[in-house]
Amino acid sequence: MRLFLDTANIEQIREIVRMGVLSGVTTNPTLMAKEQGISYRDRVVEICEAVDGPVSAECTSRSVDELVIEAREVAAWHPNVVVKIPIDDVGLEATSTLAAEGIKINMTLIFSANQALLAATAGATYVSPFVGRLDDAGHDGMEVVRESVEIFDRYHLPAQVLAASLRHPRHIIEAARAGSPIATLPYALLKSMLKHPLTDIGIERFLEDSRSYEKESARERSGS
Ligand code: G3P
Repeated sequence: MRLFLDTANIEQIREIVRMGVLSGVTTNPTLMAKEQGISYRDRVVEICEAVDGPVSAECTSRSVDELVIEAREVAAWHPNVVVKIPIDDVGLEATSTLAAEGIKINMTLIFSANQALLAATAGATYVSPFVGRLDDAGHDGMEVVRESVEIFDRYHLPAQVLAASLRHPRHIIEAARAGSPIATLPYALLKSMLKHPLTDIGIERFLEDSRSYEKESARERSGS
């Protein structure tokens, strides 16, 4: 499973790129609103130059014609840009036009396997079920990931499930076990994958033991 970061923060992205585990980035207007002093376009281009992989940038137009124009503009920002479009009748119509032009779409705000199937059929390259928001509403959000992966596999649909709105470490494992080819994670969640108290204790113990071993060797060398 490929890991994407769900952020518009360039420092967070650069740090995870250096760790060698980042395959792409997803952004949205809410994440961009946290960034100051830079336009959405400039930040997306900056991210594209920092990451070797797809970078989703969201469109906000609400008519088919405007959405198609906006998406073409956004797609032209950089070859790695994937245009993010929310699913509804307007979004689907725009997606079918844009996909025919070779523009890659990440269809977002997916809350059911039926929506996922429509997105894939219209030509979206990535389909993003929002797991955490479904859990918040009392549903089993991961079930939409499981069902979508199964449907895409069974009918050989080329769209890829991009598990989104993931909130805790078990979500990542469950998305991986469900066969989701991609998961997008907030920075803190990705960092939490790294942490285990036994690793910290083990590192500390090895350090202490190596210090006492070095002390012993130094004593032997000085003959005392
Ligand atoms: O990629 C989707 C994500 O940004 C939504 O996450 O936590 O706002 O539901 P959340």
